[in-house]
Amino acid sequence: MASVVVVGTQWGDEGKGKIVDLLTEYAEYVVRFQGGNNAGHTLVVDGKKYVFHIIPSGILYEDKTCVIGNGVIIDPKVLLAEIGELNDKGLTVTPQRLLISTNAHLIMPYHQSLDLAREASLSKGKKIGTTGRGIGPCYMDKIGRVGLKIGDLLDPGQFADKLQAVVEEKNFILAKQYNAPTVDVELIIEQFSRYAAELTPFVGNVSMVLDAARKAGKNILFEGAQGTQLDIDHGTYPFVTSSNTIAGNACIGSGFGPAHIDEVIGILKAYTTRVGEGPFPTELPEGDGVGDALQQKGHEYGATTGRRRRCGWFDGVVANDAVRLNGLTGFAITKLDVLSGLDSLKIATKYQLEGRDYDHMPENLRIAQKAQPVYEEMGGWSGDITAARCYDDLPRQAKEYLARLEEFTGVAPAIVSVGPDRAETLLLRNPFQR
Ligand code: GDP
Ligand code: IMO
Ligand code: MG
Repeated sequence: MASVVVVGTQWGDEGKGKIVDLLTEYAEYVVRFQGGNNAGHTLVVDGKKYVFHIIPSGILYEDKTCVIGNGVIIDPKVLLAEIGELNDKGLTVTPQRLLISTNAHLIMPYHQSLDLAREASLSKGKKIGTTGRGIGPCYMDKIGRVGLKIGDLLDPGQFADKLQAVVEEKNFILAKQYNAPTVDVELIIEQFSRYAAELTPFVGNVSMVLDAARKAGKNILFEGAQGTQLDIDHGTYPFVTSSNTIAGNACIGSGFGPAHIDEVIGILKAYTTRVGEGPFPTELPEGDGVGDALQQKGHEYGATTGRRRRCGWFDGVVANDAVRLNGLTGFAITKLDVLSGLDSLKIATKYQLEGRDYDHMPENLRIAQKAQPVYEEMGGWSGDITAARCYDDLPRQAKEYLARLEEFTGVAPAIVSVGPDRAETLLLRNPFQR
């Protein structure tokens, strides 16, 4: 029996969806614990592609239970659309297969309006480049104690009272501050009563269910969203998301005790990408041959917004931050295949600015934005590696690259991914078989 947390180690889109899908084979429960539909997790099984924004990436296995924890924020329209799409594909989502925490907060229509209006009002250089899904405003209301929860849907009178109280303020801000359209309370009540009818069968006490599962010896997999450098406390603030993305939040965001976590696997792309604004020391700007090659070969477009992802060399500083902040016990190194064909590869081992060395992401935004990476160079390899299924199938230089990442971070890869498909994977050590 084991509880395993999977988190992104960089700026998101490391391939968490693929690895969670892969590991679900060995788990009985798959739990999302933070973020919302800003996430876009891609799975490819037998050439068929699925993208999930809110439903856990274990949903393709019909005999597993997917769980949405209290730390997740839910846009019910998006959730129901995702359930509907799965039903259309014959993967009927029943309450036995999906459990939603009573305490998960709702993304309301005014959250999305406020997210878009605020971003539009910011000048260049100040925009965060959010996904526009209402994430920041929803978490603000949660912390400000004026949020609405999934549980409130089960009590229509209370839902209407809470909504009435909060909409007045939201409409004031929308109209007066942003000159944006206001929202209509009655319309929201009508919309959300329909959502309530559809979602009620899925709602329950996640903490109690997970506790019972653990006591019954079940394997539990926690699926992080976003990545370590997007963490609200430890990331490149303010160019971050509005939740804690690191492993500690697996417990807070689901009501699971920290002493029961056995493994934390960090998903580490073999190079670096970022979508949205903010510091990115190893970035290869648009027009750079290698950066453009990574972007094209890696199909680096956002799974949620379709935006072009910025690309750059592997950043050992970011990797070591992730090791420390998440207490990683293993890596899943993804997209190694995308590096094939490059003559040489660079790894950033530290940053420098104004005569000072940095072995961690500088907390000062100005420094993080200007810091220059110091690289070491390694030999590349040619030829396609997507058919590799064990370590010895890899070319010598690819093995050397992996060995150097392990040496530099002190954490060994448990999984190496050489293509988007579930099958295109080297499982070196199974975190559930301890
Ligand atoms: P997530 O948000 O961390 O789940 O990652 P995304 O799904 O947003 O982005 C990762 C992309 O890389 C998806 O299109 C995956 O299908 C793809 N992918 C995952 N692992 C690999 C890999 O090892 N090689 C290649 N070429 N693509 C991969
Ligand atoms: P997954 O789970 C990559 C980024 C946005 C923006 C910042 C804030 O697929 O890895 P938000 O809408 O959250 O307020 O946007 O965070 N961002 C992501 N980048 N992958 C994600 O999720 C992301 N979720 C948010 O681009 O820079
Ligand atoms: Mg993604």
